[in-house]
Amino acid sequence: MHLHKLEKWWLILGISALIIFLVVLGFGAFYMGTHPQSHGLTIDPNNVEANEAFQQENLGLTKVDEDHYIVNVVASAFNYNLGVDEDGNSVTHIKIPKGSSVLFQVVTTDVIHGFNIAGTNVNMMVEPGYVSSMEVQMNKVGEFTLLCNEYCGVGHHMMFTTVEVYE
Ligand code: CUA
Repeated sequence: MHLHKLEKWWLILGISALIIFLVVLGFGAFYMGTHPQSHGLTIDPNNVEANEAFQQENLGLTKVDEDHYIVNVVASAFNYNLGVDEDGNSVTHIKIPKGSSVLFQVVTTDVIHGFNIAGTNVNMMVEPGYVSSMEVQMNKVGEFTLLCNEYCGVGHHMMFTTVEVYE
């Protein structure tokens, strides 16, 4: 079988691109631990309190044991509700010890929001009707910005808070 020279190059190019894409995908999935968020759990966006995790007193950071934490968040335009501190002020900063495993559970009561902790693997879309959850190991020390990366309205750019991972 005779293949034209250009056709050969075109085949090589196509097959190489395919191999590169698969390697990048495999590296992200198996080495970096990137995976789609879970969407198995549904919730009534008008009554998120029906789920115990999203009742006001259970929002924010909860310590489960020595190195396990849960962070429950109710997102709404244009805020992440992380509960209140002892003085009754809204929590805007959470602190997690390095190396702990953290389960983030996020819901929205209005429109689609994003939940991205810049510089980490945490990046979820939060859709009305679903509980977006993801468990990650926080191994990088530093102060990270948790921000909304889905355009949700005029206050979209003000929708952020901070997550600190300390030694
Ligand atoms: Cu919430 Cu953009």
